[in-house]
Amino acid sequence: MAEGSWIRRMFEDGVVLKQRYGAENVFDLSLGNPVMEPPAEFARELKRLVEHPLPGMHRYMENAGYTETRAAVAAQLSLETGIKLTMNDIVMTCGAAGALNVVLKTILNQGDEVILFAPYFVEYRNYIDNHGGVARVLPTDEQFMPKLDALETAIGTETKAVIINSPNNPTGAVYSKGLIHKLGELLHKKEAQYGTEIFLISDEPYRKIVYDGLKYPSPLHHHPRSVIVTSHSKDLALPGERIGYLAVHPECSQREELVNGLIFCNRTLGYVNAPALMQHVVRHLQQVTVSVTEYQQKRDFLYDHLVGLGYSVVKPRGAFYMFPRSPLEDDVAFVRELQRWKVLTVPGRGFGAPGYFRISYCVDDGTLEGSLAGFRKAAQKFNLS
Ligand SMILES: Cc1ncc(COP(=O)(O)O)c(C=O)c1O
Repeated sequence: MAEGSWIRRMFEDGVVLKQRYGAENVFDLSLGNPVMEPPAEFARELKRLVEHPLPGMHRYMENAGYTETRAAVAAQLSLETGIKLTMNDIVMTCGAAGALNVVLKTILNQGDEVILFAPYFVEYRNYIDNHGGVARVLPTDEQFMPKLDALETAIGTETKAVIINSPNNPTGAVYSKGLIHKLGELLHKKEAQYGTEIFLISDEPYRKIVYDGLKYPSPLHHHPRSVIVTSHSKDLALPGERIGYLAVHPECSQREELVNGLIFCNRTLGYVNAPALMQHVVRHLQQVTVSVTEYQQKRDFLYDHLVGLGYSVVKPRGAFYMFPRSPLEDDVAFVRELQRWKVLTVPGRGFGAPGYFRISYCVDDGTLEGSLAGFRKAAQKFNLS
C-alpha cells in the first residue's frame, strides 16, 4: 500500500489544499479522470433506452456479455485491425482493470512471471500479485520505448506474459508498428527456444487517443497469443461506468479453452458480467470517440510552455499524460515544491520511474493555464533555462 499509493496520496494532499485555498486556486494535474463529458451520442442512446426500454434489460445475462454488444465490438475491432474477429473472441468486462484481472487470473499459475516496462501503470503490480504472479520490471529507453535486448535476456521458462501499454500511461508514448513487430518476433523465438507459450497482453484504453495523424498499430498482427484489454473509460469518457472488454486473437492456440476460462473468471472473480445498461449503450457507440483534437490542443499548449520554461519532456503522441524529467533528483521533493505553488502532479517513482513526474492534462484549459505560474516559479528556482 505504501509503495503503490502515490496518486492517491497526491489526491489527498490536493483535497487539503483545496479546502485551505479554494478549489479554483489549486491546479490539480494528478488524476487521469477525463474532464470532458461523454460525446452527445451517449446521452442520446441512454435517453432512447429509457424511453423505449428493452424487455429484461436489467437482468442477469451470459457472463461474456450480450451477444449483440460483443458482435458490435468484434465488428469495430475487425474494421480497425483488418483481422476478422467474431463475438466469440470478445468478453465484456468491468473496465480495463476488470479485463486485466480476468486475463491474469485465467492464464497465471503460482509463480509465473509477467514482464512489465517501467514506467508502468501502477496497478499492474497489484493485479499480478492478486493472481499469484511475479512482476518482472524492465527498463525503457530515453523515449520510453521497451528495450528489446533487455527483454530477450529477461524472458525465461517462467515467463507467462508481457504487458504492453500504448498509448502509455504515464508517458504518452505510442509504440511503432516496427517495434511491436520486433517484439512479436522475439516472443516467437523465445517460445520456440523454451517450448512455452507467452501471451502478449495489450492494455489499450487510450488506443483511440493518438495525435499527429499517427495510426495505432495493433499487436494482433504481430503475435497470435495477443489478448487486448481495453475500456471506454477514456475514449468515451466513462470511467465511472466500468465498461470495457477483452479480445482474444482468433488464431490463438487453444482459443476456445482460453475464452471459456476468461468467461469463467469474469464470473468467479465476482464481476459476474459487465454492467448491462452500459453494454446496451456502447453497442451503438463503437465508432464514436471524445474529441481527440481537444486533447491534442491541450498537449501542444502544455508541451510548448514546459519546453519553453526549460523542462525536459518527451513529446507525448497519445493518451493525456506527460512525463517530464524532474529538475531535482528527488522527484517527491520536486512534486512537493510544485505543491507549494498549488500545482498537483505525481512523482515518477509511483510508476516505477524515479527522477520524473507525471502530469495529467485531461483537465479544463483554465486549470492548465493556471498551473503555468507554478511551473514557471519552480523552473526559475532550479535555473532550468
Ligand atoms: C494504462 C491503464 N490501464 C488500465 C486502466 C484502467 O482502466 P479502467 O478504468 O477502464 O478500468 C487505466 C486507468 O487509468 C490505465 O491508465
